[in-house]
Amino acid sequence: MAKPRTAYTCTECGGRSSKWQGQCPHCSAWNTLVETVAVPVATRFRTVTGAVADVRTLASVETRAEPRSPTGLEEFDRVLGGGLVPGAVILLGGDPGIGKSTLLLQAMAAIGAARRALYVTGEESPEQIAMRAQRLGLVNAPVELLAEVQLEAIIGAIRTRQPEVVVIDSIQTMYTEALESAPGSVAQVRECAAQLTRLAKQSAITVILVGHVTKEGAIAGPRVLEHIVDTVLYFEGDTHSSFRLVRAIKNRFGAANELGVFAMTERGLKGVANPSALFLSQHAAAVPGSCILATMEGSRPLLVEVQALVDALQGGLARRLAVGLDPQRLALLLAVLHRHGGVETAAFDVFVNAVGGVRISEPAADLAVLASINSSMKNSALNDKSIVFGEVGLAGEIRPVQRGQERLREAAKLGFRRAIIPVGNRPKQAIEGMEIVAVGRIGEALERLRG
Ligand code: TYD
Ligand code: MG
Repeated sequence: MAKPRTAYTCTECGGRSSKWQGQCPHCSAWNTLVETVAVPVATRFRTVTGAVADVRTLASVETRAEPRSPTGLEEFDRVLGGGLVPGAVILLGGDPGIGKSTLLLQAMAAIGAARRALYVTGEESPEQIAMRAQRLGLVNAPVELLAEVQLEAIIGAIRTRQPEVVVIDSIQTMYTEALESAPGSVAQVRECAAQLTRLAKQSAITVILVGHVTKEGAIAGPRVLEHIVDTVLYFEGDTHSSFRLVRAIKNRFGAANELGVFAMTERGLKGVANPSALFLSQHAAAVPGSCILATMEGSRPLLVEVQALVDALQGGLARRLAVGLDPQRLALLLAVLHRHGGVETAAFDVFVNAVGGVRISEPAADLAVLASINSSMKNSALNDKSIVFGEVGLAGEIRPVQRGQERLREAAKLGFRRAIIPVGNRPKQAIEGMEIVAVGRIGEALERLRG
C-alpha cells in the first residue's frame, strides 16, 4: 500500500502547507502547523455522514431508537445516557491515576459476558492488567487483551477479532505509520482518533478512548479530540478523597452534564446511587463561612457545602481564589455584593471552595457563594438547617433557576428545614417541613439569611 501523503495543517486557520514551517503561510500564526494525513475528503467523511450527494427532506429520513447496551455499571450507564451505542466513539479523560483504567476494565468485564470486548493497552503490560483484574475479582472475565501501540496492527486485530466494544488505553500512546511525528503529539493523537472513528462508524463498533489530561506542551491532551468524538466524559473530583465523579461534557446520545458518582474501594469503583448528601461536611455545630447549596448535577439534585474564608489582606494585592467554582463569577459576585449589598471586600482576601472536589458551573450557586462570603466576613454562622440557591444578577436581583421544586424536595428529604430561594422559585404548594423564604434582592437575602 502506498504511504499516504502527509501535509501540515494550521490549528488556527485550518490552512494547509506541503512542508513544515514555523509560521503559517495563510494566517501568519507561529508554531501552529501540525502534521496531518492528506486523505481525500470524500473518503474521509463519507462513512460519517452517509452518502455525500444524497439530498433528502427531514421527514424522509427513517429514524429508529438507538439500540443501547447497558454496561452493567449503573452510574457509568447514567453518564452515557443509558448505555453504549454501536458506532459511538467515547472519550474518557482525566488526571493520571484517577481511575480510568479501573472503570473501563470493570465495564469491559461486565460487557464481555454478553458481547465480544477487546481491551487494547498501550500503557501497561498484560501482566499489570491481569494484576488489576485480580484485585477487582475479575480474573475470569471474558475480556480479550491486546498490548499494542501501532494503530495499523490494532485496526488489523479489530478487523479479524470483530469485537463489539473496544477500549484504547490510552490514545496518547498510539501511533500511526502514516505520520512521522512522535506518539503523543497533537498530530498523532488526532490522526489515530480520526482513523478509529472511521472504523467505528463503518463497522458499528463502540470505541472508548482513554485520554490523560496533560499540562500544555508537546503532549496533546484529550481536548484536541473533543470535536471528533460523540461523547466526552471527564473524571473530576479530588484524588485525595475516595469519591470519583464522571461527568458527560458532551453527548450526542444523551444529556450533557450528567454526573456519575463512584467510590474508589479496595475492589475497584462502586457506584453511589444516592450521592445527594455526599458533599456535606458534618460540622458538630454551625460554623461561619459555610452555606449549603442545593444544586442540580445533570438530572439529579445534589446538596453541596460551599465554604468561604474572608481574611484581612496581608499586604499586596487582594487574592480571590475559587476552587470548584467559577473564579470569574466570583469577581463579579463580589462587585454585586459591594454595590447592591453594601459589603466591601477590597481590603480582604477571599477564598471560596465547593466541598468534596465537585465542580459547580451553574449560576444557581451565586446566592450560596455570597451567603458564605458574607457569613465569613461577619463571622456569624448561618442556620445549619438552611439551604440556599439562586442566581444573582448585576442589578442586585435574585433570579429564578430551573428545577427549583426538585432541589427543595431533596433538601427536605435530607432534613433541611429552611430554604432561602428566589421569589420566582416559590413553590405553588407547600413542601412539608420546609419553611420557604423567597427573596427578590441581594440586600433582602443577606437580611433573611441572618434570621
Ligand atoms: P487507574 O485506574 O490505573 O488510573 P488511570 O488509568 O486513570 O491512570 O488507578 C487509579 C488508582 O486507583 C490507583 O492509584 C490505584 C487505585 N485503585 C484502588 O484504590 N482500588 C482498586 O481496586 C484499583 C484497581 C485501583
Ligand atoms: Mg490507566
